[in-house]
Amino acid sequence: MATAEIKGVYWLGKDTLRVSAALFAENRWRLCEGLRAVQGLQQRSMVVLQGGEQRQRYCTDTDEVFRQESFFHWTFGVTEADCYGALDVDSGRSLLFVPKLPESYATWMGKIHPREHFKEKYAVDEVHYTCDIADVLTNLGPSVLLTLRGLNTDSGSICREASFEGISKFQVNNSLLHPVIVECRLIKTDMELEVLRYTNRISSEAHKQIMKHVKPGHKEYEMESLFQHYCYSRGGMRQTSYTCICGSGNNSSILHYGHAGAPNDKTIQDGDMCLFDMGGEYYCYSSDITCSFPASGKFTPDQKAIYEAVFKSSRAVLDALKPGVKWTDMHRLADRVHLEELVKVGILHGSVEDMQKEHLGAVFMPHGLGHLLGIDVHDVGGYPEGVERIDEPGLKSLRMGRLVQERMVLTVEPGIYFIDHLLDRALASDAQCRFINADVLARFRGFGGVRIEDDVAVTANGVELLTCVPRTVEEIEDFMADRDEKSFSSSVSSQKL
Ligand code: GLY
Ligand code: MN
Ligand code: MN
Repeated sequence: MATAEIKGVYWLGKDTLRVSAALFAENRWRLCEGLRAVQGLQQRSMVVLQGGEQRQRYCTDTDEVFRQESFFHWTFGVTEADCYGALDVDSGRSLLFVPKLPESYATWMGKIHPREHFKEKYAVDEVHYTCDIADVLTNLGPSVLLTLRGLNTDSGSICREASFEGISKFQVNNSLLHPVIVECRLIKTDMELEVLRYTNRISSEAHKQIMKHVKPGHKEYEMESLFQHYCYSRGGMRQTSYTCICGSGNNSSILHYGHAGAPNDKTIQDGDMCLFDMGGEYYCYSSDITCSFPASGKFTPDQKAIYEAVFKSSRAVLDALKPGVKWTDMHRLADRVHLEELVKVGILHGSVEDMQKEHLGAVFMPHGLGHLLGIDVHDVGGYPEGVERIDEPGLKSLRMGRLVQERMVLTVEPGIYFIDHLLDRALASDAQCRFINADVLARFRGFGGVRIEDDVAVTANGVELLTCVPRTVEEIEDFMADRDEKSFSSSVSSQKL
């Protein structure tokens, strides 16, 4: 199907982004191209993917809000649960299988759409019912079905392979597809970049709202709520890409704060650093942005020193990033800048080169510099076969080990944190404590941390910065200076908390 003929559009009205079904037609075309180049692929191969299933809360009949499985979304852009898709690799012909819904669906859930509706909505060549999948595929007579099985190198989980009644009658290959589709997802098309620009624009605006409204006395979760409200009401983003991290004070050093055991429930205090890591998701495309700023709107000298150290590393990496550089080198660059700046602050002393040999950077930045971003916030493709993770403090947490390529979308998220148990361990280590001025470091206990996280698209000779929020100390202080008490109360009360 020529993309010009495609009528299907995902759009949530008002100012939300229109995303053409052509985005997924192009993805399917790229996948078929990629597969046709694979050695040993039999003729008449057919990709079969299984979409996500509607789940309920434990054993109840309460539906969870459905979010499509990421590989299936990338290939078909289908919002509904319980579907399958197939793709004839030689011809590129696409088939969607949707559930045949019972009459009661029309009473409880709404109109039952005919198959033609899905054909137009998703710009596929054929639509059938899932109950007929074995018969439809048998009639097409593929030599082999390509199903998806492979490791997610971030979670360590294996993705779930398509399965349906009658699949045992077919020859199935579950190893060829995964590396090819992962490489396709790694490189973003123009249409995908457009969606990622949108998720970043809306999420950046939402972060700015928070900066305008945050005040000592507010709960951290009020900021989470405001972010979600902005993203959903203005951007049509029903989901965030991950659990919101709204750490204030010492909580800003807890890398994945905000979980059920620590649910953003502290009261923000005057003098706290805030570290808010939040990203809205639109039509399953992510964003991942961290803003760090003082709750008071005015940096103390220590807050300014640590913030500017992180800002320096962030901008050093953005300046150096381009196709061909090693992501591991970018991580090392950020570490080096942090160590140099911590020497200037007086927390460290000695040779930065020697500190790097002792992995001192990982004491202050134990996580990786950043990761691929796309349909998943930690997007696939960081460690393909042949690229090994470096087993060193800090670098072992890096979610991508490969060379940077044009059209990758990455987060750049350096941070400096004062995490008690890592500081205690460093002070107890002869190799590391010789670089530390313990009395100066003591002043930073309880400081929390600073992270500056931007999303970038790699261009032919550099990067396009997708995130747009106040970043320098001056920009942040100016932006927060004219905060308006009333606008916070009105936006929060409009959420009927
Ligand atoms: N928000 C999770 C991360 O930054 O990777
Ligand atoms: Mn983040
Ligand atoms: Mn991130």
